[in-house]
Amino acid sequence: VNEIKKDLPFLSKKVLVTAGPTFEAIDPVRFIGNHSSGKMGFAIADEFARLGADVTLISGPTSAQSKYALHRINIVSAAEMLGACLKEFAGNSITVMSAAVADYTPVTTADQKIKKTASEFSLELKKTEDILANLGQRKTADQILVGFALETEHEEEYAKAKLVKKNLDLIVLNSLNDKGAGFKTDTNKITIFNKAFEKTVFEMKSKTEVAQDICNEILKLI
Ligand code: CTP
Ligand code: CA
Repeated sequence: VNEIKKDLPFLSKKVLVTAGPTFEAIDPVRFIGNHSSGKMGFAIADEFARLGADVTLISGPTSAQSKYALHRINIVSAAEMLGACLKEFAGNSITVMSAAVADYTPVTTADQKIKKTASEFSLELKKTEDILANLGQRKTADQILVGFALETEHEEEYAKAKLVKKNLDLIVLNSLNDKGAGFKTDTNKITIFNKAFEKTVFEMKSKTEVAQDICNEILKLI
């Protein structure tokens, strides 16, 4: 039994992971998106599965693939991601929100393709709901909630502010300042803060190894 616990520390734990970008439709053929490849989120989902967890993966549009038979839910927009997260959240004891959710979405989506008749064209956008903050409000004492922060300046200060504001247990800071870290790459460099603002700095590593570090930090909370 102790051997199994060591090899499969998340056995019988239900884990929710989000990954990838969201696409916000402008008209039937166009959207606003971002460069997220989904690789980091899929690596986290796979690492949890490898360690025995029962994983649900909510993914935006991505070509990333899982090595495991996860319960995968595909969504497109931030609104759909919110809906799927609200449905799944309560049933999981650990949630890691690594998706790159759009902050703004068009106020209206055109039913037909927009024609290039006007010489100037502007889009009106409205803020999307902050899914992670919403989940942070719903979180019960036996749930662990982990978020990401993508920053280009005042990184640690901003990351710690997000940890508090969104009621998280851990925040994973991703710096875009480091070469080899970020969206399209197979490597990443992260720093993790816990609720006591204790900081753990990690080296640049493959996203698979980064996922191992993140799961390890979460394991320390259980
Ligand atoms: N996030 C979310 N819902 C949104 C926007 C972001 O759940 N509508 C989550 C992301 O999945 C991530 C965390 O919030 O885990 C931080 O995302 P980030 O873009 O770094 O921060 P924001 O709170 O969106 O603030 P800003 O972009 O202004 O820095
Ligand atoms: Ca954002």
